[in-house]
Amino acid sequence: MGSQSNAFFAVPQGPHGMLVEADRDERARQEFVRSFKAFIQSDVVPGIHATYHHEVKPLFERRAGHPPRDRHEIRELMTQHPLFRNYASLQRVSQELLWDVVLDSIERTLPELVERARLRGKTSCGSLTLDPALSLPKYAVGVDIHCMPGGYGGEGGPGDVTAGALYDRGVYLYALGMMGPMNDDIGGSAAKFVRDRFPDFKPRRILDLGCTVGHSTLPFVDAFPQAEVHAIDIGPSLLRYAHARAESLGKRVHFSQQDATATNFPDGHFDLITSSILFHETSAKALPAILRETWRLLAPGGIAVHGDLPPFWAMDEFNQFMLDCETWYNNEPYWGAMREVDQVALSIKAGFAPEKVEFCMAPSAYRAAAGHDRSFEAGEFAPGNAWQVLVTRK
Ligand SMILES: C[S@@+](CC[C@H](N)C(=O)[O-])C[C@H]1O[C@@H](n2cnc3c(N)ncnc32)[C@H](O)[C@@H]1O
Repeated sequence: MGSQSNAFFAVPQGPHGMLVEADRDERARQEFVRSFKAFIQSDVVPGIHATYHHEVKPLFERRAGHPPRDRHEIRELMTQHPLFRNYASLQRVSQELLWDVVLDSIERTLPELVERARLRGKTSCGSLTLDPALSLPKYAVGVDIHCMPGGYGGEGGPGDVTAGALYDRGVYLYALGMMGPMNDDIGGSAAKFVRDRFPDFKPRRILDLGCTVGHSTLPFVDAFPQAEVHAIDIGPSLLRYAHARAESLGKRVHFSQQDATATNFPDGHFDLITSSILFHETSAKALPAILRETWRLLAPGGIAVHGDLPPFWAMDEFNQFMLDCETWYNNEPYWGAMREVDQVALSIKAGFAPEKVEFCMAPSAYRAAAGHDRSFEAGEFAPGNAWQVLVTRK
C-alpha cells in the first residue's frame, strides 16, 4: 500500500436506520475493497498520467508532428500500453468486488432488512407510492449500470430492498467516503447553491428526479423545511429503501415510482425541480424528454437545478479520456455520450428562455468542509471541489 492511500479519509457511513450491518469478515472484505480502490487512485493513476505525458504523448508527437487530437486518439494509444491495460482491469475488478462484498451482508440479513423497512413504513411521516404497472425504461434497466448486480430495476420479491441497500453501501465505498457520511454531497451542494444564489426563493413544492435512495433528496428537506418534497425513481426496491431510510431520519418525503420523462403530476406543480447525477445515466432520447417534463412541471418563476459531473469542455483531452474510462470499464453506456450533448441548447429547445439557462459551479458542501481536495475518480470528477449544475428558470 502506497503512502498516499491514507489521504482518502474514511468516515463511518450514516448513521441511519436502514444501514446494512456487516459482520467482522464482511467488514474486513469491504475495507479491502475500499483500500484497493484508494490504492488505484493514489498509486496507479499518477503513473498513468506520467506514462502519457512523458512517454506516450512525446512519442506520438515525434512520429505524427502534432499532439493527439482528442480523447479518442488518446484512447487508441493508451489501450496499447500495458500499464493502462493493467489499470483498466484493476478498476473493473475492484468494482465487481465492491458489489460482491456488499451483497454478502445483504443476503445474510435480508429478511430482517425487509422487516425493518416494513416497520418504518407503518409510522410514516412521508409516503411511498409504487406503480407495478409502470413500464421501466429499457435504457435504464437493460444494463446493470456501474456493474451493480440486478441494476436499478432489480426486484427480488415482496417488500424487497436489495437494490436500495446495495446502492447505498456501494456508493459509499465507490466514493471512498468522500461524498460524506450520508453520501449527500451533490444534493447538499446543489441545495446550498440554490439558497446562496436565490436567497429570497421559497419553494412550496420540490421534486427530485431519479432519487435512487434519496441521498440528494434529503438535503433539500433540510434546506427548505417549509416545502413539500417529492422524489421519484423507477426502481421499486430503491424506493422502499429510500422511504424507510428517510423515515428513520425523520425526514418527510413523498416517494413515488414514476418515469421522469412523463410523470403524473399536474402542469406547473413544482417551484423547484432537482436531479443529481441522473443525466449521465439517461439515454439521448430520455434526456430531452426529461428537460421537457421539467419545463411542464415548473411553476412560473420556478427553478430547476440538475447536478452532474462536468462536461468534457471543462477539462483537457487527457482528463476527458480518463473520465471516459467509466463508459468503457464500468457499464456506464451514456457517460461519455452525455458529455457531448449541449445541455444548454437542449434546455432552450425544451422551452426555457436562453437568458434563463446557465451552467454554474456549485462548491462542494461536504468536501470543502472536510478539507478534501482530491478527486476520487479517474480524471477530474469534481474539479476545484465543485459540482457542475445546469440551472434553468421558468
Ligand atoms: C446515479 S442514480 C441517481 C442518484 C441520486 N440522484 C443521488 O444523488 O444519490 C440514477 C438514478 O436515476 C434513475 N432513473 C434513470 N432514468 C430514470 C427515469 N426516466 N425516471 C426516473 N428515474 C430514472 C435510476 O433508476 C437511478 O436510480
